[in-house]
Amino acid sequence: MGTMGDRRMTDGFTGASVIVTGGAGGIGRTTAQAFAREGAKVVVADRDEIAGAETVRLIEAAGGTAHFVAVDVSLEASVEAMVRAAVARFGRLDYAFNNAGIALGAGRLADLQEDLFDRVMAVNVKGVWLCMKHELRQMLAQGGGAIVNSGSIGSFSGMSFERYGDSASTAYIASKHAVIGLTRVAAMDYAKDNIRVNAVCPGVVRTAMYEESLRGSPARRGEIAAMHPMGRIAESEDVAQAVLWLCSSRAGFVTGHALSVDGGYGAA
Ligand code: NAI
Repeated sequence: MGTMGDRRMTDGFTGASVIVTGGAGGIGRTTAQAFAREGAKVVVADRDEIAGAETVRLIEAAGGTAHFVAVDVSLEASVEAMVRAAVARFGRLDYAFNNAGIALGAGRLADLQEDLFDRVMAVNVKGVWLCMKHELRQMLAQGGGAIVNSGSIGSFSGMSFERYGDSASTAYIASKHAVIGLTRVAAMDYAKDNIRVNAVCPGVVRTAMYEESLRGSPARRGEIAAMHPMGRIAESEDVAQAVLWLCSSRAGFVTGHALSVDGGYGAA
């Protein structure tokens, strides 16, 4: 192991540099805040400049260090510029959480429109590949790092549209399966380069998007909680803590793994 791993074991993430895509809200914002609390310098990368700037403000108000970079993860030039901006600002890139994702769809497979399919794949699959491509180049150049990609309980099985609505669209579920494939191949390709690549796979998480989706049918709240054996959905912090662990030297022999953070959903 390099000195990076040794230092982290005793010193949290102090001085480390991390990119969190989709850091403007939901799981990404909470994870950016968690990294910052443990001393990391955080690049909050998102297409939403206003909410992204708010994440930076929240981190700085709590005494942390953060910097906003506007990015569209589905465009290579934009992703390349994001990594360049992170290195320009903080000197290196130790960790990345490729979390930006979208859940679009309408109806079952035969009702899904081509443009929605393409859009979901462009962000959730091509976006993760592009982010890893440019993050890995930087990590190779500096001698190591760790990456976590955003999977889902929808990475392992189908979810019916009838039960879950648009967030279980064909394209979304296929995209989250693909994230695991990308993660595994990257882990193998860079296993000897002191770079670990894993995925975090949350159950349903309490985010603004989730609350919005319940407005029409508050009764579904209990139903969705009950699908998770622990009887509740995830908080963003549950996911953030798993991401930090996967990045930390405590997970030093963990690579190519898809870690469920789902209250037992996948055990059923
Ligand atoms: P969110 O919608 O609150 O946050 C996603 C962020 O990604 C937003 O800030 C959005 O502006 C950004 N984004 C979207 N497209 C982008 C693009 N092309 N370029 C740059 N930024 C872009 O969603 P949430 O719930 O925090 O989800 C984060 C990740 O976790 C997603 O990948 C999602 O699929 C995954 N996930 C979410 C679950 C949930 O129940 N909320 C469950 C399992 C996985």
